[in-house]
Amino acid sequence: MDLFDAIANRASVRAYAPADVSEEDLRQIVDAGRRAPSGANRQPLQFIAIAKRETLDALAAVQEAFASASAAVGIVADPNASRWWLEDASAAAQNMLLAITALGYASVWVEGTLLKREGEAKDLLGVPAEKRLVILLPIGKAPQPTPQADKKPLDEVMFREKYGLR
Ligand SMILES: Cc1cc2nc3c(=O)[nH]c(=O)nc-3n(C[C@H](O)[C@H](O)[C@H](O)COP(=O)(O)O)c2cc1C
Repeated sequence: MDLFDAIANRASVRAYAPADVSEEDLRQIVDAGRRAPSGANRQPLQFIAIAKRETLDALAAVQEAFASASAAVGIVADPNASRWWLEDASAAAQNMLLAITALGYASVWVEGTLLKREGEAKDLLGVPAEKRLVILLPIGKAPQPTPQADKKPLDEVMFREKYGLR
């Protein structure tokens, strides 16, 4: 899929039809995360690829989406390794969301609901206490075409040369 199609087609999907997510696809998705920009190139991130049903079912305690997901990726950050760990995790998440879309799957950025149950999710995934489990991305097939949430029109958010000039 062309990059601009992936950007336009990416949408938050929170319930999935079963998908056969191959090892090659999972590696390609995580590779897209690994290649994201990183402040001072500190690369404070690690990624957990999840494909076991029992782990996905347990993650449903964080958000129901995982119950129907066929795979997932967790982004782990070391806050002691970079002051930009959150920005880095965000850049990696977006790269992976675009890769997931380009490969024909669907996902959603799970961070808000994870924040409330991070300790539980870290225990489940064996993440060391000193690291953060920042974002989880479930992976599945969209059961039906899902449009991206409405965005403000381009001409409303885009200025020319100076703030306020159109
Ligand atoms: C920082 C951040 C945290 C988010 N946390 C969650 C979350 O915990 N659960 C969820 O279902 N969606 C979450 N989302 C997805 C947003 O709700 C979604 O991107 C937004 O509604 C716009 O929809 P779209 O992704 O289809 O454009 C999060 C998105 C971002 C950027």
